[in-house]
Amino acid sequence: MPAPDARTSLAGGGPGPDGEQAAPSAPPPAAAPRPAAFPQLEGFALHERLGQGGMGEVYRATRLADARPVAVKVLSESLAVVPDYVRRFDREAAAMAQLDHPGIVRLLSRGRSGPHCWIEMELIDGVSLRTHAFQVRPSARALARLLAQVTHALAYAHARSVVHRDLKPDNVLVLRDGRTKVLDFGLAGLHAEGAEALTQSNVAMGTANYMAPEQRKDARRADHRADLYSFGVMAYELLTGELPVGRFQPVSRLVPGLDRAWDALIDRCLEQDPAARPHSALELAHALDSLAGVAPPLELAPRTRRRARRSRVWSWLGIGSGIALVLAIAGLRVAHDHARLQPFAAASLATARAEGRIVIAPARTFRKQQRR
Ligand SMILES: Nc1ncnc2c1ncn2[C@@H]1O[C@H](COP(=O)(O)OP(=O)(O)O)[C@@H](O)[C@H]1O
Ligand SMILES: [Mg+2]
Repeated sequence: MPAPDARTSLAGGGPGPDGEQAAPSAPPPAAAPRPAAFPQLEGFALHERLGQGGMGEVYRATRLADARPVAVKVLSESLAVVPDYVRRFDREAAAMAQLDHPGIVRLLSRGRSGPHCWIEMELIDGVSLRTHAFQVRPSARALARLLAQVTHALAYAHARSVVHRDLKPDNVLVLRDGRTKVLDFGLAGLHAEGAEALTQSNVAMGTANYMAPEQRKDARRADHRADLYSFGVMAYELLTGELPVGRFQPVSRLVPGLDRAWDALIDRCLEQDPAARPHSALELAHALDSLAGVAPPLELAPRTRRRARRSRVWSWLGIGSGIALVLAIAGLRVAHDHARLQPFAAASLATARAEGRIVIAPARTFRKQQRR
């Protein structure tokens, strides 16, 4: 079944692979919609729009100085005149500049050209994890291998105080050889000093479906554990084709034959209380390495008990998840690689496109939305 490729489908009606450089000899018919012109960036030839998001567009380009193929992310012109957005774009570059890891897309340079702010990155020849799941339908074990790489990359970023804050299947690219690259650190660095209007208290930022509850309330309060929550949503969706909203089923209920250790892992990530989530991305990475069959069986460390007042509901939920964890440890560690995952429905792709926008909104808007 042919599946849409995020890179081409996101490009929509944009120019073809040769972009502006392939100027037609005859003028196009009057009725044909004219593709938007690519920005002119000194030192680069832009060829193709690879993606478009809330902040701007990403292009496949050639760096003219040495003919190196690169990717260039350009802040939209309308946002480039708003200082807060320029600062946020700069923060993305600053966050990326701290990171040098094979699982994270590498920043090469940043700059301005006339009205345009841009970031130059290594060009990744891959598709998003969402598209990969849709096209390839990996086994649970193959998915564990991919997700383990993502958590190793996250652990590296967290160790450098960089929180991604917008982790989702669209922000992970899968290369042909099975390596993954985390990208789009546009919301990273919000914890930094000098938070300005965009990071003011009671403002939620991120992609609604993947956002941790504390991130919905106030983006600044979200620490590395918000990424673990987003990771849980992403893993749940990749395994089941559904988002864990409302009273959701454990993944093993939706995917017959799935190793029950997935339940414990994902349930812990999706804890409302950040203190009850796994302690670190590294811990998740080790659990996933074990699910991928490349490390011995391993269970997550017990929850950290918060001294703060906890409601009875949370206590019961805690006990319930504890029982689930004990069950998981109690010998259900047989390799279940035959568990085929739910196909990513076309609807799921469409929903992601519709809802995949980064949202910046007063926190109460999200609280209302989440009660659906
Ligand atoms: N370095 C890169 N190499 C190849 N494709 C990329 C690269 N960076 C981004 N893309 C593509 O562009 C899309 C949008 O990039 P992203 O950084 O996520 O921007 P946004 O903030 O607009 O979501 C990605 O989903 C991916 O398809
Ligand atoms: Mg993105």
